[in-house]
Amino acid sequence: MSENVQTTRDEHILQIRLNRLDKKNALTLAMYAALADAVESAGRDPDVRAVILTGGDDCFTAGNDIADFAQAAAVQGEIAPQLTFLGALARLDKPVVAAVAGVAIGIGTTMLLHCDLVYAAPNVRFRTPFVDLGLVPEAASSLLLPALIGHRRASSLLLLGDELDAETARAWGLVNAIVADPLGAAKATAARLAARAPEALRATKGLMKRSQRALIEETMKVEGEIFGERLRSPEAREAFAAFLGKRPAKF
Ligand code: COA
Repeated sequence: MSENVQTTRDEHILQIRLNRLDKKNALTLAMYAALADAVESAGRDPDVRAVILTGGDDCFTAGNDIADFAQAAAVQGEIAPQLTFLGALARLDKPVVAAVAGVAIGIGTTMLLHCDLVYAAPNVRFRTPFVDLGLVPEAASSLLLPALIGHRRASSLLLLGDELDAETARAWGLVNAIVADPLGAAKATAARLAARAPEALRATKGLMKRSQRALIEETMKVEGEIFGERLRSPEAREAFAAFLGKRPAKF
């Protein structure tokens, strides 16, 4: 388990916390592997009835670690741990409650599309700057985001990379509620879920996801192929070099 991904267990609730605050919780390959392990073990463990996903007070996560992206592009590496985590989260049949504060960028936004209930702090800022990085969306967000908020709103996020504030995110249905203490709200909700009939709960979540499951898997696969190509593109290399050099990208 990566030290940057902390798991704690409170009776039937597994809490997964992103903890790499000096880098705004940017996700490394080791963190994805730890996240995948945590989610898969929650699925296997019959005593886990609900999962909480959270980060810091001013950053949920700044998305994929861009130095890792640059490395993957340079050595023809791969992003398999990221896909393993997203696949595990998408397949998990137990409820996932997210508590989000501060920046929620890239996968920090898109992973929430696979969570069942989302509580956000007033300081939350969502952004999906894939095109800014010469990349394409992942986590089946090219499917799920337009489905959730509509094509035109999704275009402002995915094509323009516009930032979304807390109130707009709530109005668009990306989060359940804006609360001063999202983790407290997530814990209270997870406790309610954990007290409910666990098999009925899992079956209900399964039914709610049933019609989209195959489409989500297929979309993730296609996105992953294009993402892998884009990662090695001159556009992406320029964007990564620009971020790491703390300068604007020139396309
Ligand atoms: N990958 C790697 N490092 C990251 C990172 C990322 N996605 N996001 C932040 N960091 C690092 C910064 O490089 C900086 O490191 P340093 O202290 O060694 O210079 C540190 O985290 C703090 O970030 P900083 O940019 O100084 O904080 P800020 O409050 O001014 O801005 C963000 C925070 C998140 C808005 C800004 O860092 C950002 O835009 N990050 C990139 C987001 C992104 O494009 N993610 C990929 C999505 S696919």
